[in-house]
Amino acid sequence: MSGSEADDRWPVRDRRAGERRTDPDRRKAAPKSSSAEAERRQTARRASERRDERAWQPVLIDTGIADGFSPEEGLLAAARTAREFAQAQYSKFKVGAALETVDGLIVSGCNIENATYGLTLCAERVALVKALSDGHTVFTRIAVVADTEAPTPPCGPCRQLLWEYCGDVEILMGNLSSLTGRYRLSSLLPLPFDRRLL
Ligand code: THU
Repeated sequence: MSGSEADDRWPVRDRRAGERRTDPDRRKAAPKSSSAEAERRQTARRASERRDERAWQPVLIDTGIADGFSPEEGLLAAARTAREFAQAQYSKFKVGAALETVDGLIVSGCNIENATYGLTLCAERVALVKALSDGHTVFTRIAVVADTEAPTPPCGPCRQLLWEYCGDVEILMGNLSSLTGRYRLSSLLPLPFDRRLL
């Protein structure tokens, strides 16, 4: 939605009908004269071009973390490195995740906790939203790492989100030294609710 649309509180129905805007609020917010409006737009456009120059660069793993490893070990290594950044001050349970894109890039994440507890973000979800927000939309695998003997599987909400955006991806689970589990998401979420049911 463009800025002007966002600011337009007039119902769509009425705009379509081409009705006159008689709402007093609208009148208060009446557009400036056309030259002032053109100037405002130009200033906004320039500001946005400046922002583009300093554009946020994708947080991809081109850090070399995965170099020299097999693709699978590289993904686990990236998850282990991300785990080091975990903000797990409440649970003390640090988790790292690494999502592989179809282009072979790796986007990592760690769990980020909060004093309200409920706002905690799992490592998998952090990796996923980082990847999606950088424009990556097709994924092949995800690795999840914790410092445990037993595998750490994604929690229920993460399974749901992974299913939505990654489909039936492979999930590698690992600890600080080895692979502890390998699953397809469909085996962890056998009867998913998804868009096919809408
Ligand atoms: N956690 C993850 O980040 N991923 C998982 O797959 C399981 C759980 C986090 C959430 C919370 O910060 C901590 O681990 C303990 O539940």
